Amino acid sequence: MPALTIARTTQPKPRVADPDLGFGQVFTDHMLVMDYTQGSGWQDGRIEPYGPLTLDPATLVLHYGQAVFEGFKAFRSSTGEVVLFRPRDHIARLNASGARLCIPALDEPFVLEALKRLVHLDADWVPRTFGCALYVRPLILATDPDLVVRPSRRYRFLTILSPVGAYYREGFRPVRILVSDRYVRAVRGGLGAAKTPANYAASLLAAEEAKAAGFTQVLWLDGTERTFVEEVGTMNIFFRLGDELVTPPLEGTILPGITRDCVIRLASHWGLKVSERRISIPEVIEAHARGNLLEVFGSGTAAVISPVSELVFRGKSLSIAQGRVGDWTQRLFDTLTGIQYGKMEDPFGWTVPVSP
Ligand SMILES: Cc1ncc(COP(=O)(O)O)c(C=O)c1O
Repeated sequence: MPALTIARTTQPKPRVADPDLGFGQVFTDHMLVMDYTQGSGWQDGRIEPYGPLTLDPATLVLHYGQAVFEGFKAFRSSTGEVVLFRPRDHIARLNASGARLCIPALDEPFVLEALKRLVHLDADWVPRTFGCALYVRPLILATDPDLVVRPSRRYRFLTILSPVGAYYREGFRPVRILVSDRYVRAVRGGLGAAKTPANYAASLLAAEEAKAAGFTQVLWLDGTERTFVEEVGTMNIFFRLGDELVTPPLEGTILPGITRDCVIRLASHWGLKVSERRISIPEVIEAHARGNLLEVFGSGTAAVISPVSELVFRGKSLSIAQGRVGDWTQRLFDTLTGIQYGKMEDPFGWTVPVSP
């Protein structure tokens, strides 16, 4: 296993009070860094004071976007213990994204240990308020300083930490969603299943236009027929049709969300019928017309569960659950956050303590 060195900061930063935290605005005192060189592999793992990078203007990632990243959270329980939520799955997904982008794989057990050390070192930055958390952002950048279009021979792996505020300060806020048949996020055979910057760049214009029209986010449809539902903003999506919980299958165009997996496993555990299957917009409209579209929600690390109150497609509005939060939506949110904050049992072993 590669070595890990630690250089502590001599200038700790001032803290921000939990109620003043937003998302990804404030960063802790330290970061994790490791470098890859072809022939030598990943080396020189180190925790060092958080600070800017110096990059040659020709650095490959700046031109051709060869990069992948992750996002997950550390939580503080009522007993003060700090845990990471499903870190192994996020590190594995980082490598899976990397494989699609020709980025060499990291040693997953080493990265887990290094991340635990990093979060433990900055543990005082983990917020104490329910709903707040420490967001963990690993990323890998292609660092060859030249303009040739080919996989880089050098990479830098970084992880930065950011205390983040409560997503729902005043309780659940169901959102209005615009179904986009103008723009698509990903196509089969493309990058949709990888967590790579290009997918987020591809989503910006549609999201801006939706916001200007009064919506919170865009519901993405498939890139070929623009009929089948894929994702909502940067979340996976679930529909409760009668007694069936439906979510689109993992066919390469959507991110295999870790929260999506939690929802599927919890709902199955409770004996609910869960289907990973294609679901078209005409099916959603028809279910709504029959009164069978009972709940719609997004799932993702940031919001955990995000209830949808309205879908608008080509000017037609589908109101869901009269704008209220459905039973299944509420139960999933309460259980997931209960496990994350140590208020409920963790039967699946999703939380990993950072203490040595
Ligand atoms: C495009 C996209 N889909 C889905 C998700 C949800 O994934 P997870 O539950 O792993 O956060 C995210 C967030 O990471 C995302 O960016």
